[in-house]
Amino acid sequence: MGKILVTGASGDIGRKTLLHLLKLKPADQLIGLARDPSKAADLAAKGIEIRQGDYYDRDSLSKAFQGVEKLMLTSTHAFTDRKTAHANVIDVAAATGVRHLVYMPIYHKAGSTFTMKEITEEDIFSIEKLRTSGLSYTLVQHPPFMEPAIVYAGPNAVEIGVRVPPGNGKFTAATRDDLAAAHATVLAEPGHEGKTYYLSGAPAVSWADIARILSDIHRKDVPYITISDEEYVKSMAAFGFPDFVGPFILKWVQGMNQGQWEEVTGDLEKLIGHKPTTPAEYLRSVADAAKAQESAS
Ligand SMILES: NC(=O)c1ccc[n+]([C@@H]2O[C@H](COP(=O)([O-])OP(=O)(O)OC[C@H]3O[C@@H](n4cnc5c(N)ncnc54)[C@H](OP(=O)(O)O)[C@@H]3O)[C@@H](O)[C@H]2O)c1
Repeated sequence: MGKILVTGASGDIGRKTLLHLLKLKPADQLIGLARDPSKAADLAAKGIEIRQGDYYDRDSLSKAFQGVEKLMLTSTHAFTDRKTAHANVIDVAAATGVRHLVYMPIYHKAGSTFTMKEITEEDIFSIEKLRTSGLSYTLVQHPPFMEPAIVYAGPNAVEIGVRVPPGNGKFTAATRDDLAAAHATVLAEPGHEGKTYYLSGAPAVSWADIARILSDIHRKDVPYITISDEEYVKSMAAFGFPDFVGPFILKWVQGMNQGQWEEVTGDLEKLIGHKPTTPAEYLRSVADAAKAQESAS
């Protein structure tokens, strides 16, 4: 029986996808792909085979994909040559006899002219590449991840307020863990070939809602303050990001403010079998973890 391979096994969502798959399939049917297998040693310790492979080295992918029936392509980082990386994985998967490939583009609202440099064009390219590859495939479209979406509220938001550019739009976000659980279902179960899902979170919230949720959790007034795009980009420096990251995050926030990810579908809940983590639950877990760390130190 063919095996299931997940790329990005040394990263966050790839690792979590394999951990969810372990609940559904025996370890000897699972493979993780990593540039540096030592970074996925924890998965190897659980019996998952870790194969070496680099998206830019087609020979390494060719060796790694032998005997693989289903493959999850974990998107590579923005600000890299994502077109070549994804095209290599798709081409080599088709050439080595992979039957079904699962890919995770960012959800793009039908008819919307909103684009994100470093993401939209590469996602469209990768989907088109898949369409003509001869592979069966499933698109698991992502909303913003919950974890960085909360960073987008601005540095020290609980103390100085949620400080973002203005906009009344709502957005959903989903945790990497919920998204990874959905990937695992699609990879482990039959019947997902040829389908497109939009793994939206729930409920949709605005930045003003986020300020209210933080106020409730921390039992203090966390204001919602609108600032200019320039001030917002400058504020991102507090996180220590390189200069080019601020405008990239601004673009995410502009999309959120415009309602690009406001739609709530039931796809994520159906695939994981329970309601996805809400922003309120996630923010409470962050506050609880910070409290626990404080009392331990
Ligand atoms: N929806 C959103 O809000 C959102 C936010 C951030 C990112 N994303 C996308 O989601 C992806 C996964 O997120 P994540 O949090 O799991 O990221 P991550 O922890 O940085 O994982 C990325 C994985 O891709 C692997 N990779 C990068 N370049 C590679 C190459 N040339 N060959 C083989 N593997 C390579 C990395 O391997 P190494 O360990 O060797 O670097 C790592 O395992 C990101 O790469 C990005 O495309 C989405």
